Amino acid sequence: MASTKLHTSILSAFLLGAGSVVNGLSFTIPSSAPASASGELDAAPVGVSFEFFAFPEYFEQLPLTNSCLGRLQDAMGTNPPIRIGGTTQDRATYNASLASAVSYSVDSPDDAPETLTFGDPYMELAASYEGTVTLGLNRRLDNISNTIAAAKVAKSKIANLYAIELGNEPNFFTSSDPIAEGQTWTATLDAESQVSWQASVSSGLGGETEFTQAGVFFGLGSFEVTNLAPKEEDTDSTQYVRSFCHHYYPQSASTADLDELMSHEEIVEGVAEYQDQVTAAQNLSKDFVFGETNSATGGGGGISPTFGAGLWILDYVMQATILGVKQLFFHQGTIGNCPYCWWDEAANAPFYGAYTAALALSGASKIAQLDAGDSRFAAYAIYDSNDEPARVLLYNSEYYTSGTRSSVNVTLSGISALTVTALRLTGAAATTIVGDGAITVAGQTFANGTCALEGTKDTETTEITAGQATFTVQASEALLIYV
Ligand SMILES: *[C@@H]1O[C@H](CO)[C@@H](O)[C@H](O)[C@H]1NC(C)=O
Ligand SMILES: *[C@@H]1O[C@H](CO)[C@@H](O)[C@H](O)[C@H]1NC(C)=O
Ligand SMILES: *[C@@H]1O[C@H](CO)[C@@H](O)[C@H](O)[C@H]1NC(C)=O
Ligand SMILES: *[C@@H]1O[C@H](CO)[C@@H](O)[C@H](O)[C@H]1NC(C)=O
Ligand SMILES: *[C@@H]1O[C@H](CO)[C@@H](O)[C@H](O)[C@H]1NC(C)=O
Repeated sequence: MASTKLHTSILSAFLLGAGSVVNGLSFTIPSSAPASASGELDAAPVGVSFEFFAFPEYFEQLPLTNSCLGRLQDAMGTNPPIRIGGTTQDRATYNASLASAVSYSVDSPDDAPETLTFGDPYMELAASYEGTVTLGLNRRLDNISNTIAAAKVAKSKIANLYAIELGNEPNFFTSSDPIAEGQTWTATLDAESQVSWQASVSSGLGGETEFTQAGVFFGLGSFEVTNLAPKEEDTDSTQYVRSFCHHYYPQSASTADLDELMSHEEIVEGVAEYQDQVTAAQNLSKDFVFGETNSATGGGGGISPTFGAGLWILDYVMQATILGVKQLFFHQGTIGNCPYCWWDEAANAPFYGAYTAALALSGASKIAQLDAGDSRFAAYAIYDSNDEPARVLLYNSEYYTSGTRSSVNVTLSGISALTVTALRLTGAAATTIVGDGAITVAGQTFANGTCALEGTKDTETTEITAGQATFTVQASEALLIYV
């Protein structure tokens, strides 16, 4: 269905007789960021979220965690921000006497614990991370003195603490959760609870302001920033809030569809649904983040470890930042049982998209979408701090699995350089997973065990004639052009 739309948009421009179509697109790069461009971008839009119970294991037992985060830092020029939280943040209790970071038991290593405790070493580990840290604490179990005790340690130890969350995805709280005291948990009740906890934790921290990441809602519904924000204002609680956040998973593992996930049109539509939430946060001069996100719920499904999911990340990060989302935190769950995870023993296919997104936005001040968002083809112009075009990102989201691979020729004009270089993000097919076929960025791969870039870097050079040149982008492929 989506490919029909691409043909329609091309037909209107390049119809050569009955039904015959020249497969070409053209874009002019505005010499400065157009009015439709994003606001000022954050220096580190691509972040990582670690499931609360698994966070110590990621840093203490998985060598790729530090090395792959290092690759993102190389690409972005800044340490990726991290958020620690998720379902198990609302199962966790702080224990000041605990000598280990975390304590829990599970029947199978694939399981997440039903209950866990964490100690000061947990905070020390979080403090040792050099980027900013957002820490999710418990609200569901209704032990506010415990959450305040944990918040105090977090504040005193974590110099790079960005914000503290009070509860995770409260839209899933039920009447049997301690916080609900037997009542049906509604958005209204939750908003009252959020502002009341914010005030109590603030006073527990000695009058701290701008310390919390509020909302933390899954998806959209009545639990939304648009509904929480008025409550924050009415109760004079906006002073406690640093950021608002929603969690976004476009698909669920049971019904996941890769063709749809990576489709540019679908990505545009899915992200646009959050416009009001972003505006509601901005109206209060607060940041808005996708505090936890990934391709499909429940750890991800069969589509999640694929190259196509990597392409989704690339386009999704561009769309979200244009919308005004400051940062996106891609969730990493139970090690060994996590199809969407960016690394385990090896860097996985989605990581290639994340790395390319980090490269694309590195040092950028603004990004503008050049296409109309109504086809499978995306084009973005990315501007530097002098408001000059620095890069162009082209993404052909046609779903390629096997057989003849289509491509699009794209003519870009408005280029002042005489030659430009480009990096290609490509893979054998959208469905390819690491180990199954080639996936490369500029011809290179991330080495198993170290996440180091391996192979000869292949930058494609193109000569510019009269300010323009034509680039070919295959189905399920992206090209990052340094203009
Ligand atoms: C793209 O341009 C090249 C060079 O002119 C041409 O050979 C090729 O057929 C074009 N591809 C498409 C899909 O139009
Ligand atoms: C807290 O940790 C200490 C030391 O491991 C342990 O003895 C104690 O039982 C723990 N308390 C709770 C409530 O889990
Ligand atoms: C709540 O936390 C406090 C202090 O951390 C602890 O002493 C108490 O046992 C906890 N209460 C419950 C009901 O778990
Ligand atoms: C944001 O503020 C504007 C101007 O006051 C208002 O018209 C708009 O409804 C607000 N939007 C949201 C989503 O809060
Ligand atoms: C790297 O890891 C992948 C996925 O675990 C595996 O399929 C592949 O064989 C490994 N490559 C090497 C060279 O060890």
